[in-house]
Amino acid sequence: MTRFHMDLFRLVALLYIVAIAAGQQNTSDICLQAASRLPGRISYPTDSVYISSRQSYYSGFERALAPGCIFRPINTAEVSRFIKLVTAGGQYGNTSQAPKFAVRGGGHTLFSGAANIDEGVTIDLREIKSVVLSKDRKMAAVGGGAVWSDIYPQMVPYNLTVMGGRVPGVGVGGFVTGGGVNFLNQRYGWSCDNIYGYEVVLASGEVVYATANSYKDLWLALKGGSNNFGIVTRFDVATFPQGLMWGGVISFNYTKSVLEAQAKAFRDYMDPKNFDSAADMGIILNYANKTFSLSNSLFYIDPVPYPKTYKAFTSIPSLSPNTLTLTNVSNMVVQFGKNLPSKVPRSIQLVYSFKNTDVPTYTKLIQQWETDIKTLETVPGGLSQFLIQPQPVTNGTNSMGLEANQHDIVMCIVTAAWTNPADDARVQQLVTSIVDKHERVVRRQRLYIPFKYLNYADISQDVIGSYGTNNKRRLRAVSRKYDPKALFQTSVPGGFKVSK
Ligand SMILES: Cc1cc2nc3c(=O)[nH]c(=O)nc-3n(C[C@H](O)[C@H](O)[C@H](O)COP(=O)(O)OP(=O)(O)OC[C@H]3O[C@@H](n4cnc5c(N)ncnc54)[C@H](O)[C@@H]3O)c2cc1C
Ligand SMILES: *[C@@H]1O[C@H](CO)[C@@H](O)[C@H](O)[C@H]1NC(C)=O
Ligand SMILES: *[C@@H]1O[C@H](CO)[C@@H](O)[C@H](O)[C@H]1NC(C)=O
Ligand SMILES: *[C@@H]1O[C@H](CO)[C@@H](O)[C@H](O)[C@H]1NC(C)=O
Ligand SMILES: *[C@@H]1O[C@H](CO)[C@@H](O)[C@H](O)[C@H]1NC(C)=O
Ligand SMILES: *[C@@H]1O[C@H](CO)[C@@H](O)[C@H](O)[C@H]1NC(C)=O
Ligand SMILES: *[C@@H]1O[C@H](CO)[C@@H](O)[C@H](O)[C@H]1NC(C)=O
Ligand SMILES: *[C@@H]1O[C@H](CO)[C@@H](O)[C@H](O)[C@H]1NC(C)=O
Repeated sequence: MTRFHMDLFRLVALLYIVAIAAGQQNTSDICLQAASRLPGRISYPTDSVYISSRQSYYSGFERALAPGCIFRPINTAEVSRFIKLVTAGGQYGNTSQAPKFAVRGGGHTLFSGAANIDEGVTIDLREIKSVVLSKDRKMAAVGGGAVWSDIYPQMVPYNLTVMGGRVPGVGVGGFVTGGGVNFLNQRYGWSCDNIYGYEVVLASGEVVYATANSYKDLWLALKGGSNNFGIVTRFDVATFPQGLMWGGVISFNYTKSVLEAQAKAFRDYMDPKNFDSAADMGIILNYANKTFSLSNSLFYIDPVPYPKTYKAFTSIPSLSPNTLTLTNVSNMVVQFGKNLPSKVPRSIQLVYSFKNTDVPTYTKLIQQWETDIKTLETVPGGLSQFLIQPQPVTNGTNSMGLEANQHDIVMCIVTAAWTNPADDARVQQLVTSIVDKHERVVRRQRLYIPFKYLNYADISQDVIGSYGTNNKRRLRAVSRKYDPKALFQTSVPGGFKVSK
């Protein structure tokens, strides 16, 4: 090497070190560093681990994104080490200089970028999945990347259950930090209402354990606050005694008279004087292939076939066969999952809530959806679902701004799926305009509830704002306290951000 070349070499090396110290790292830098410091955990676009991780997202919008590399940690310490690398041990001046990354649990969010990212790094948490029952069996310590349908079978032999998703594949991480509608929700609340502790890797890389007694502000913020405060590597969740439960799906002819009977049955079911805490159900209206169809999901956590509370639904003449059965929770989830596609190409859902209303109003909502959704017939692969279900009953210990012990709140979701990118804008507009119209109907009745359930919301909806001014302010303060350089606001762009 000539003197000149040595100087040049030194200069380049120096510039490189300076760049790192300043935190000006690019994606490949961080992938290379992580690969050397965390051997075996980084995979690249041509690796089978990367390919299968990317293909396993529920929605095509997430599968379309291609991170520079995927990081698959197997424990909390590795997550912490990675965060320290990303932030160059806290040496970075501000987070716009840190590389971008995404945090992924079960990968069931529909919209683009919630749990995946282009060019940055995606942290796929699914290897952090251990499940440990406490000695008294009242609590299960569940890994931050676990999937509910893998946990249920481990609880059944103990006659216990946990508050998870009702369809296979849904992850603990997104589900619980966003709320969690579960089979037990009418009796015991949202899943997030029943988390004793969160082990969290903060933006500093420090690992803390947040409970009602320590880091209480963080504990509360995580109940609805999603990925804004850190990466949750363990959830200490409540377990509940559970024998066999009853439920499944029952279908009906889609006729005016059946819809009317459904509206009446639902209005009465939602009347607090008929409240039954063992029940959790939904009216499912479908449009596919120019055809409308109608079914109910009926669940009952006590071992009672055809409970009285569902009589008005089950006595409507129905199509056979139905899948209503007495079985364990694990099998119920597997069976219920068969009614949904295991993946969707392109998909959107919007949510809104309101107080129980009268039959003409339910009918109006259905007719509005029916009229407008027909335009999907010219969209390849176009299909839609309008879902009407009770909102969980909460005791109010969360960040979602909900009134405690309300038994008559309804939560509706309008979903659509389609095949071609060329139809994205059109379908998104269609679903948005249906929900706008629906909201206007219930606003006029003064029954509208501003709350938007994070896990059923589209990114276009103001979820954090829907928690109310005080909650939003409090969530921002918690973000500033535990993440002063706003790493999870700027370097983790995906999902609903408290700073927006
Ligand atoms: C088929 C299907 C069935 C569903 N059934 C139900 C249901 O019964 N009840 C219900 O309430 N919802 C249900 N949902 C919605 C579901 O709750 C959300 O999609 C939820 O986000 C799924 O969590 P996930 O970990 O799989 O998602 P991901 O898409 O992986 O993550 C969602 C968000 O959470 C963040 N996140 C994930 N893990 C962590 C973590 N450990 N720490 C910090 N942030 C994290 C991610 O960064 C992302 O922004 C269903 C969705 C689908 C597609
Ligand atoms: C990113 O880092 C890699 C590896 O150090 C380097 O080869 C590449 O030129 C960098 N790209 C940019 C845009 O800085
Ligand atoms: C962060 O750093 C970048 C790059 O050095 C700079 O352009 C930007 O102004 C900084 N932002 C803040 C908020 O300091
Ligand atoms: C749950 O029920 C199904 C169907 O009866 C059965 O095959 C399965 O073994 C049960 N699961 C457990 C964990 O016992
Ligand atoms: C679970 O319940 C069944 C039926 O009541 C009972 O036979 C069994 O012993 C219980 N198992 C445990 C671990 O309690
Ligand atoms: C709600 O339930 C949770 C979990 O049992 C508990 O920690 C919390 O204190 C309860 N809140 C109220 C207001 O009762
Ligand atoms: C629509 O029809 C096609 C062709 O008949 C079929 O393959 C597809 O499964 C149908 N889709 C739904 C959702 O029923
Ligand atoms: C549903 O509609 C079909 C076709 O019109 C009819 O033959 C059948 O009897 C109806 N079933 C019920 C339960 O109403």
